[in-house]
Amino acid sequence: MDLKVGFLSLALCVGLSWATIDSDLIEAFSSPGIKRDVLIDFAGGNSRVIETIESRSFRTRVGKVKALTQGLQGSTQSSQGPVQDYLGSMGIQSKSYWSSNQMVVRSTNLGLLRRVDSFPQVSRIRMLPTIQLSPIPSSITPTATTVQWGVAKVGADKVWSTFNTKGEGVVVANIDTGVLGIHEALQGNFRADHGWYDPANKTATPNDQNGHGTHTMGTIAGGGEQGIGVAPGAKWIACKGCASSGCDGESLLSCGQWMLSPTNPDGTDPDASKIPDIVSNSWGSAIGGNSWYNATINAWKAAGILHAFAIGNSGPICFTGGSPGDQASAFAVGSTDINDRSSSFSSRGPSLSGFITKPEISAPGSDIYSAWNSSATAYKTISGTSMATPHVAGAMALMLSAHRNNVGDPSAKLPQTKVESLLETTAVTKGLSIGAINLLIPCSGGFLGRLSYPNNYFGYGRLDALQAVNATVKASS
Ligand SMILES: *[C@@H]1O[C@H](CO)[C@@H](O)[C@H](O)[C@H]1NC(C)=O
Ligand SMILES: *[C@@H]1O[C@H](CO)[C@@H](O)[C@H](O)[C@H]1NC(C)=O
Ligand SMILES: *[C@@H]1O[C@H](CO)[C@@H](O)[C@H](O)[C@H]1NC(C)=O
Ligand SMILES: *[C@@H]1O[C@H](CO)[C@@H](O)[C@H](O)[C@H]1NC(C)=O
Repeated sequence: MDLKVGFLSLALCVGLSWATIDSDLIEAFSSPGIKRDVLIDFAGGNSRVIETIESRSFRTRVGKVKALTQGLQGSTQSSQGPVQDYLGSMGIQSKSYWSSNQMVVRSTNLGLLRRVDSFPQVSRIRMLPTIQLSPIPSSITPTATTVQWGVAKVGADKVWSTFNTKGEGVVVANIDTGVLGIHEALQGNFRADHGWYDPANKTATPNDQNGHGTHTMGTIAGGGEQGIGVAPGAKWIACKGCASSGCDGESLLSCGQWMLSPTNPDGTDPDASKIPDIVSNSWGSAIGGNSWYNATINAWKAAGILHAFAIGNSGPICFTGGSPGDQASAFAVGSTDINDRSSSFSSRGPSLSGFITKPEISAPGSDIYSAWNSSATAYKTISGTSMATPHVAGAMALMLSAHRNNVGDPSAKLPQTKVESLLETTAVTKGLSIGAINLLIPCSGGFLGRLSYPNNYFGYGRLDALQAVNATVKASS
């Protein structure tokens, strides 16, 4: 005991004891009285539980998800208990997330954080991120067509006819601004049972005060005559991580956790059997290098939930991937236009976290026509890696549906690593170009028009859903 006190005061003297509080957070308390919302990581995160679950075998997916959920809840309770008790005794509110073993404390001061920091279980304290969505307006008016250009470009319509699936039997979620549930292209395939969660306001039915989330879900699973959806046979569910154009970090964590254990809209009756097969994430920070969502992504992987993340709209400069997309744990999507050029807004790698090549893949994201929130029959053309990502999520639904049909098991799974490699090895590399501006600022992975793959513009290439499904079926035959 004496020894520890002695060491602690020594550490104080040499300034080591606050090493777990991010320096930019400390700087953000520049004058007295300032309060900040913070995110606290706990030693070991959720990785021990995930490793234990991955080392065991389970007869059913639901059994595995239940064991994962219980394991994460127990481990969060034991690692966070002392800090929860301390904050509780001070009358300070906090919210714990078992999915990632993190804690959010709102409106706190630096003095309190220094006391929290002295708990040995606390491994890092950082600013709670808020995310700004930044879709790009488009002036293109689509001409009448049976399927939208992006759907045709990736060969989704050929999957429907060749492999006889439009994504039937698969459940896809998004974390976005919500979805206008009554939209004509989406009302028919909403899975209402444990299918909607609005963590901030607990609204009862799907709604969208922005349009962005209706648009992205339209590209994933929209049906009807406008031909907007890649997998219109899939069912969708949604979590409202973004109130409008802003997404609160805490809502995003709540949504990430909800995917592992969907509840009713009021937060009751968590049910492991209702988890989605895929989560599409058209959101991220403008600047990368932030690992705050890694643990949530890793928990999704352990639960067998596939994901895709937008790489961001901060291009064409290199090193502009946003987080979580730029993290090693995330499967990130860049954007292409109708001529298979890299969209100039599409963020480029390498990642600020570890200089890894980013994104992993690209998909149509310039001038995408899809559903909008202004009425049940509204549509709009916009651009962004937010629009590219749902093409990939939809392609994953087609792959999973074809796989299940092929093996005759409606609950068969494909692990994230397998799906990523199928998408990467079948991606189109012929005929892609990066546009003039990028010749001046090469982000590695090729020079002056001659690209090698993967590279920091396209990743492994442009999504080819037809060949990805073809390869999936072949691999499982
Ligand atoms: C749709 O989004 C706009 C902002 O883009 C918002 O002003 C409007 O209230 C939303 N409409 C509905 C029905 O929620
Ligand atoms: C919740 O409702 C309030 C008040 O209507 C609104 O300002 C806020 O944006 C809503 N949040 C979300 C996530 O919809
Ligand atoms: C996720 O972030 C943690 C730090 O919180 C880091 O140690 C780890 O390497 C990251 N993992 C991946 C796979 O991105
Ligand atoms: C599937 O891939 C094989 C090559 O592995 C190719 O011969 C065949 O044409 C592909 N099928 C379709 C529908 O493209």
